[in-house]
Amino acid sequence: MAPIIQTINLTKKFGDFVAVDHLNLSIEEGEIFGLLGPNGAGKTTTLMMITTVIKPTEGTAIVGGHDVRSEPDKARNLIGIAFQEPKLLWVDKVIDVLNWHAKICGLSKSERKVRVKWALEEIDLWDARNKTIHSLSGGMRKRVEVAKLLIQRPKIAIIDEPTAQIDVVGKHRIWNMIRALRDEGSTIILATNELNEADVLSDRIAIMHRGKLLVCDTPKNLKDSIPGGDIVEVKLEKELPEKTLRAVKELDEVVNLVKVKPNHIRFHLNRSETVTPKIMEIFWRNNAPVLSIRISEPSLDDVFLHYTGLTIEEAERLTPRAKKP
Ligand SMILES: Nc1ncnc2c1ncn2[C@@H]1O[C@H](COP(=O)(O)OP(=O)(O)OP(=O)(O)O)[C@@H](O)[C@H]1O
Ligand SMILES: [Mg+2]
Repeated sequence: MAPIIQTINLTKKFGDFVAVDHLNLSIEEGEIFGLLGPNGAGKTTTLMMITTVIKPTEGTAIVGGHDVRSEPDKARNLIGIAFQEPKLLWVDKVIDVLNWHAKICGLSKSERKVRVKWALEEIDLWDARNKTIHSLSGGMRKRVEVAKLLIQRPKIAIIDEPTAQIDVVGKHRIWNMIRALRDEGSTIILATNELNEADVLSDRIAIMHRGKLLVCDTPKNLKDSIPGGDIVEVKLEKELPEKTLRAVKELDEVVNLVKVKPNHIRFHLNRSETVTPKIMEIFWRNNAPVLSIRISEPSLDDVFLHYTGLTIEEAERLTPRAKKP
């Protein structure tokens, strides 16, 4: 079956700055597809091109069989969007915003009544339906954005940073809404810079960095693909001296080593059960008391690190940014 969305060398330049660089993605119908990358990676710009809000500089995207360059209206008709920064309308009350949205989606009066009530209950804002959007918290406003998609049930739902700055309970609520939307039949593209969010929600993830696609696969395959798959985190009482660090680096089984903090080291290893005692012995011999040890599976941050040499946090600091006009 043809993919529901395909980007072909999709590229966007702002002046000389390349925000999205020859991106080739294939998104299958019915999947939750995560677009993961640090700030400035080009996620929102990619979504803007797919949704026909901005034109590609080069390449194109085919959305439900329609080329965004030659048939933007037909492509746009298949799509519903929850923006990174919710746009406000002239109507002000939560229920009015959703009613208005239901109306422009073409729902009849009776359908509107049923679906808006259902969506408000689903996002747990029925009791707050007469409040103004301005008086809601950031998390509640995001929920209203996602509720628009629940009402619309678009063939393709595009959601940009659904839970940025939202507490854990709010995150879970929004994740469940996104899953509900998929169960109703929408294909979902989700842009996020939160590793855990991409991991728990996505069927497949494309990792972007500086406008380019690094890798695309299921979260499990991404994690299984990195060498030195065992991870051992060691926290020490005080900063680890360079000499000791060099000694542990020299162990054969140590594939990579990250100094998360001066006293917090993350090892990527093969055969952690045999090498961890050796590392402990080196620390002990060099008078570096250990506070805690944790052995774990790789995370998507480790995948990112494997492909870029940077943690997501470092990449956020180091990624060059074009100046917005
Ligand atoms: N209208 C614009 N004019 C100039 N530069 C832009 C414009 N929009 C985006 N950019 C630049 O393009 C790059 C990619 O931005 P984009 O918003 O797509 O990143 P992102 O991955 O969505 O990041 P974030 O996680 O912060 O939302 C950034 O360097 C940004 O400054
Ligand atoms: Mg963005």
